[in-house]
Amino acid sequence: MYLLIPAAGSGRRMGSDRNKLLLPLLGKPLLAWTLLAARESKSIRWVGLVGQPVDFPDFKEIINAVGMSKMVHLIPGGSTRQESVYLGLQNLPVVAERVLIHDGARCLVTPGLLDRCVEAIQTCPGLIAAIPVKDTIKIVDSTSHLVSQTPARENLWAAQTPQAFVVEELMRCHTQGRADNLEVTDDAALFEHYGQPVKIVEGEETNLKITTPLDLAIAEFILRQRLNKTL
Ligand code: C5P
Repeated sequence: MYLLIPAAGSGRRMGSDRNKLLLPLLGKPLLAWTLLAARESKSIRWVGLVGQPVDFPDFKEIINAVGMSKMVHLIPGGSTRQESVYLGLQNLPVVAERVLIHDGARCLVTPGLLDRCVEAIQTCPGLIAAIPVKDTIKIVDSTSHLVSQTPARENLWAAQTPQAFVVEELMRCHTQGRADNLEVTDDAALFEHYGQPVKIVEGEETNLKITTPLDLAIAEFILRQRLNKTL
């Protein structure tokens, strides 16, 4: 399986002036933990790491330190996640039929979840890892700040990555999305918009997206628990 890792973001919401994926988490850069999960996956053979070229020297060091046995290709990213994934797709080998996309910022993903998504994408055109939401979600008017709707919680799932797709279909959706000036925050949204079915694979509650300093503290706690269990 071919894996694309969008890793070309910044550290703005983390309050950092560098890519947040370079921040330390339990003695390793955040990105190292994501790559470790990819290294341990049984089904991933090729990794495309999409980043800003300014970060490539650090990325190379991390790849070496992790001891990646699979091929890792550095791909220059864009100014949005959508653009970075589009550029990643352009750089997939032509023989790639299916692709797994996993955000570098979800560094607590397990190899098991990556492999479950790889297995599930063999029999459907698109899928996302997702978990049922625990909170009651409100739709709020952006100007009046008044609640306009409360969707039924049993229908609400929080989308995570990995997301996986048939490459040809996803490329078509990305190209059409660019032509239509559609801005989305995940690839599944493009797929859905153009009428393609997206299946759910049960994700993991610990598969957090590291966005703020609090997320980093929670991630450290979860990793310590995991490492203690394996000692
Ligand atoms: O900023 P956020 O955490 O939502 O980004 C999700 C993922 O997309 C991160 O792994 C980030 O590095 C990546 N990204 C990207 N290119 C951008 C912005 C974000 O690859 N221009």
